[in-house]
Amino acid sequence: MAAMTIEWKRGMPGKKTSKIGEGAPPEWYTAGLAHVWLPYAQMKRASPPLPVARTQGSRIVLADGRELVDGIASWWTACHGYNHSHIRAAVESQLAQMPHVMFGGLAHEPALTLAQRLAARLPGDLDRVFFSESGSVAVEVAMKMAVQFWLNRGVRTRKKFLVFSGGYHGDTSGAMAICDPEAGMHAPFRGLVPEHHVVDLPQDEESAAAFVHMLERHAAELAGIVVEPLVQGAGGMRFHDAAVLRALRAAADRYDLLLVFDEIFTGFGRTGALFACEAAGVVPDIVTLSKALTGGTLPLAATVASRKVFDAFWSDDPMHALMHGPTFMGNALACAAANASLDLFEREPRLRQVAEIAAALERGLAPCRGRRGIKDVRVRGAIGVVELDRIDDLERLRARFVEEGVFVRPFGSIVYLTPAFTIAEEELARLTGAVVKVVAALPR
Ligand SMILES: Cc1ncc(COP(=O)(O)O)c(C=O)c1O
Repeated sequence: MAAMTIEWKRGMPGKKTSKIGEGAPPEWYTAGLAHVWLPYAQMKRASPPLPVARTQGSRIVLADGRELVDGIASWWTACHGYNHSHIRAAVESQLAQMPHVMFGGLAHEPALTLAQRLAARLPGDLDRVFFSESGSVAVEVAMKMAVQFWLNRGVRTRKKFLVFSGGYHGDTSGAMAICDPEAGMHAPFRGLVPEHHVVDLPQDEESAAAFVHMLERHAAELAGIVVEPLVQGAGGMRFHDAAVLRALRAAADRYDLLLVFDEIFTGFGRTGALFACEAAGVVPDIVTLSKALTGGTLPLAATVASRKVFDAFWSDDPMHALMHGPTFMGNALACAAANASLDLFEREPRLRQVAEIAAALERGLAPCRGRRGIKDVRVRGAIGVVELDRIDDLERLRARFVEEGVFVRPFGSIVYLTPAFTIAEEELARLTGAVVKVVAALPR
């Protein structure tokens, strides 16, 4: 490991020290590694990433020819599997016609069709779509919309948000300020980014009382409530019930706050319904979408506002406009991919596949239940979670999964699976089998 660390630092993981494969890594890898800064990585200690040659379905083919069954679907984006022919054809055809054109002063069919389709699929009057290129930016836009909603009504005091422990909403400064400030990965920035009000989700008497207490004291300074509905993803894969979301809606109405659902993880089928808000029967005032929006093919995000929110910006006063406009917003290639992805949700039995995956995850992960060192095993939709008491060596654990021929990327004390909805039964069995085997062998 030490030798690999040194090689890694120089960006030259040679065939003798690297565990990434038998043969020498490709030239692009050895030449380029010293020049990239990787995500969520202590660069001095992190294991080198696996060089990928290509993907297909639920398979990642490494440069040395090894094939891994993918348990993560690239941070939950590739919901139809990689390289789906329908999305590929849509992107290819769009590329031939027009890859991109600025959205200021110009409009195009893929973006307008997508906006109209999203508005039709989302519940209630969530029908005004603002496009951006990443989830974090979609969250920033939602926060900006919520604060300006009040500014445009002459209220300058409502600029904070009520958010929840265990929450994760992105890495840009506004978004990281509403993540869990202690347990979240942005803890070093505490006190440096604006502080918001953080409480536990109101799930029992005690947390409900604390939630109401917080609202009673601070509602006048709140623009809104932001929550990941049904599943708090990157903050620990924690689940809550629809009743919690109904309580949030009731509180938002009572205290006159905007309710923002961050569906960047939960949107597009992951929890079993197309959107978590739909499953919960709760209509938020703003919803953020990204990740699986394009079926994982291209970066795209959307912040969708209800009529009430949009109306607060409808004015003769230029200062009431939403002054935001990412250069690549509404990118035509990405919108074409998203439209093709929606076609697949309409044509193919995706939600049935999610239900089947949920059942297979329950069965496949069941042997982990009740074992020493395992705190919880939980499944919701196409999300399977094994929560351990602790993971001592994350890098080693990740490497063990690769040795088992699967790509699974635990974090914190969580081993999770968020496969493509098109994954084959035997591939899913391979994933759950690997989780059971690797977790059972951990020292306790
Ligand atoms: C719920 C949620 N919100 C926001 C984000 C940030 O999205 P991005 O990484 O595209 O900026 C994520 C990413 O994991 C997420 O899960």
